[in-house]
Amino acid sequence: MYLVTGASGQLGLRVVRRCVSLNVPVRAFVRLTSQYDMLKEWGAEVFIGDLQEPRDIAKAMQGITALVCCHGSHLISRHIHAIDYRATLDLIQAAQAQQVRHVTLISPLAVTGDRHDSPFLKAKYEAEQALIRSGLNYTIFRCATLMSSLIPLAERFQQTGIYVILGDPQHRLQLTSPEDLARCIMIASHTSDRQIFSIAHPEIFSRQEIADRLGRFFNKRPFVVNLPLGAIDGARQFLGLFNRDIEASMGTLRTLLAYESLCPSSDIERVQHYFQLPLESLEDFLNRYF
Ligand SMILES: NC(=O)c1ccc[n+]([C@@H]2O[C@H](COP(=O)([O-])OP(=O)(O)OC[C@H]3O[C@@H](n4cnc5c(N)ncnc54)[C@H](OP(=O)(O)O)[C@@H]3O)[C@@H](O)[C@H]2O)c1
Repeated sequence: MYLVTGASGQLGLRVVRRCVSLNVPVRAFVRLTSQYDMLKEWGAEVFIGDLQEPRDIAKAMQGITALVCCHGSHLISRHIHAIDYRATLDLIQAAQAQQVRHVTLISPLAVTGDRHDSPFLKAKYEAEQALIRSGLNYTIFRCATLMSSLIPLAERFQQTGIYVILGDPQHRLQLTSPEDLARCIMIASHTSDRQIFSIAHPEIFSRQEIADRLGRFFNKRPFVVNLPLGAIDGARQFLGLFNRDIEASMGTLRTLLAYESLCPSSDIERVQHYFQLPLESLEDFLNRYF
């Protein structure tokens, strides 16, 4: 039986759907407030709990052979310590106690970059280290921004023609298809290896090029609203006068907006070779979604 945490999230949903389609028994960890009807309809076992409750974690882990951690807090959140760090450590500890066969963890590509101003990246890095030290079999996937994260922006652009760019429009980034990642997770979780993969589609975009690409896709000229990094720094300083927590959490947004973290082509080739997978492009993803 697989346990998928964050089962109502962008990636978790897709991992649960793949388990069901491959006839792998799956328990989906959700909150009472999560959207989980679909998971039940697919035939997953739904476990309602809260990852901030170690008792819920212990109960959800009973009878589990593989753990797939797809939970996460938002970048600007008060729950980074509790969810991305503490809950992940509690899950790893429970996996050790249960002698779980394999654990999968998902981190952003930026986890190996400059973390000093980002509690989120520190939490992800320390969780990776705890898993590496645990003695368990594991796969850590370091991925670029998930293509599914663009959907709300694309939908708003489709309706209004407006596309908001935070930070420098020429900043470069890559994207990862959540379907590709879910496929890789299923393959990796059957192995007894200890591996770390960086995964992204090879295409490199600037933020402006993503706006232009959506413009071509919807046949609509984008009206780009740009919020430069300086404005975000100003907002951070101002909010920091009233709330130190918000100032600290905005450090992650600042770090991710300011520094480019691209996936080396040798790592992309390694993923394609290991998983025998042609990686999905943004174009293909959008065609499938819209
Ligand atoms: N999205 C990206 O671009 C990206 C890029 C790199 C790495 N990652 C990492 O990949 C993983 C999956 O990302 P995602 O975008 O699929 O995440 P997501 O859509 O934001 O989903 C997060 C999930 O965590 C659950 N969760 C949060 N707090 C919880 C709690 N206290 N108890 C139980 N569940 C809780 C949420 O439940 P609710 O539905 O109830 O809120 C949701 O199902 C995360 O670890 C993320 O950091 C994501």
